[in-house]
Amino acid sequence: MAQQDDVFKKIISHAKEYGFVFPSSEIYDGLSAVYDYGQNGVELKNNIKRYWWDAMTLLHDNIVGIDSAIFMHPTIWKASGHVDAFNDPLIDNRDSKKRYRADVLIEDQIAKIDDKIEKEVAKARKRFGETFDEAMFRQTNGRVLEYQAKREALHQRFSDAMNAGNLDELRQIIIDEEIVCPISGTKNWTEVRQFNLMFKTEMGSTADGAMTVYLRPETAQGIFVNYLNVQKTGRMRIPFGIAQIGKAFRNEIVARQFIFRMREFEQMEMQFFVRPGQEMEWFKYWKEWRLSWHKALGLGDEKYRYHDHEKLAHYANAATDIEFQMPFGFKEVEGIHSRTNFDLSQHEKFSGKKIQYFDPELNESYTPYVIETSIGVDRMFLSVLCSSYEEQQLENGETRVVLHLPAALAPVKCAVLPLVRKDGLPEKAREIVDDLKFDFTTHYEEKDAIGRRYRRQDAIGTPFCITVDHQTLEDNTVTLRHRDSMQQERVAIADLHRLIHDQVSLPSLLRKINK
Ligand code: GAP
Repeated sequence: MAQQDDVFKKIISHAKEYGFVFPSSEIYDGLSAVYDYGQNGVELKNNIKRYWWDAMTLLHDNIVGIDSAIFMHPTIWKASGHVDAFNDPLIDNRDSKKRYRADVLIEDQIAKIDDKIEKEVAKARKRFGETFDEAMFRQTNGRVLEYQAKREALHQRFSDAMNAGNLDELRQIIIDEEIVCPISGTKNWTEVRQFNLMFKTEMGSTADGAMTVYLRPETAQGIFVNYLNVQKTGRMRIPFGIAQIGKAFRNEIVARQFIFRMREFEQMEMQFFVRPGQEMEWFKYWKEWRLSWHKALGLGDEKYRYHDHEKLAHYANAATDIEFQMPFGFKEVEGIHSRTNFDLSQHEKFSGKKIQYFDPELNESYTPYVIETSIGVDRMFLSVLCSSYEEQQLENGETRVVLHLPAALAPVKCAVLPLVRKDGLPEKAREIVDDLKFDFTTHYEEKDAIGRRYRRQDAIGTPFCITVDHQTLEDNTVTLRHRDSMQQERVAIADLHRLIHDQVSLPSLLRKINK
């Protein structure tokens, strides 16, 4: 675990050093849980968004996109349930004056028991070597069984308290488990209180009677309230979907793990409107399709798992998360929810407008059911970054840090490097840049020895380096260096476009979905 923590710290500092992610307002000592994306980060982020957008809107002829405003009528959040129920339970430590999420303190306690189990398994694996039967060990080892029983009892008590909204019981669990504040080390806890996560602000001048509005905590409601507009103007027939990418804001109490949990973040959400009674087959479709979208990136199939929700929100009849193996464990990256007709019905009730679909095949009107796929851009970014980062020991004893980014997502696709800064090589290299730049993000670099320039490109995940040398002037060939293998091949300048395009184009990635 400590080793994983170290890797994660290295990834965070790498992200800063190479212009991917900066702490927000850094020269003013930062702003907690808010981050800025730098020159390479924004390209990677845009490529992720483009991959999602094209997968939704190009590969499905019944999905269209919208871009709704962040500010919305405040009654929307009353109708959606966010004003009354979008809360986290919080608790303060009186000595450190630090505020925590009560549920996170307990989840961390459960994770500690999980760690103990994993340590027992790792020790046994080392002791028994190849003959180790892990499943058998987990089922029979006394200490593991003891930890397992403790874990299950705690988990059950915690789930019951959360489901019942029993704040006293949450506090009692923290007391009984002897959980201490990581800062003060004491158990001097306040009561647990509910805390609404929405940011409020005022619209209009106070003299005119300003209206309280919220920064949206999800993009989904912008889709629901535009359902009729899109269905009618686009002449959409059910089943159809509406996709949106945009900022969302949550006043997270526990903001940590870098860009995993932020106060300002971005979501890519799609609401798929279906006939009532057909929602389960569409839920299954989207659950599988979304996983294959992730897997097409080639980050490693074993890094994903589903987490099916046992306890469902009152409006949902099925829900699952796609979790990704981050350096700090398997964590939710995307949620897929069957939300029934809850949201549209609520907006019908609160707005007084009829929100129905006339189904010409059935010759009847109904409120459509909805399957939602909802993924955080920043969490997706983090999963791509973490799984791409490698510190590689080379045969010559050197270490190189390389980002094995999926080529279609890489911020820079190719770098053109004149071997020396004279003899007409820079001019020739510039000619190549001027040709490639229309199709690929292309860097030109002439400073430092060629080896150092390769390392810099490896560190930002550039799939190809093109080196221009004296032979180039004679026969119009260059060396093409591949990032992952570091292999170099001599190729004609005329072939560069095709060779690079084959590897980095977004359509080639989109074609891998469901393959
Ligand atoms: N409309 C449904 C919805 O918003 P959610 O599970 O609350 O569902 C969906 O959020 C996704 O948004 C999550 O799976 C996660 O990727 C991302 N997300 C949620 N809160 C976040 C935060 N504070 N920081 C970064 N990403 C977040």
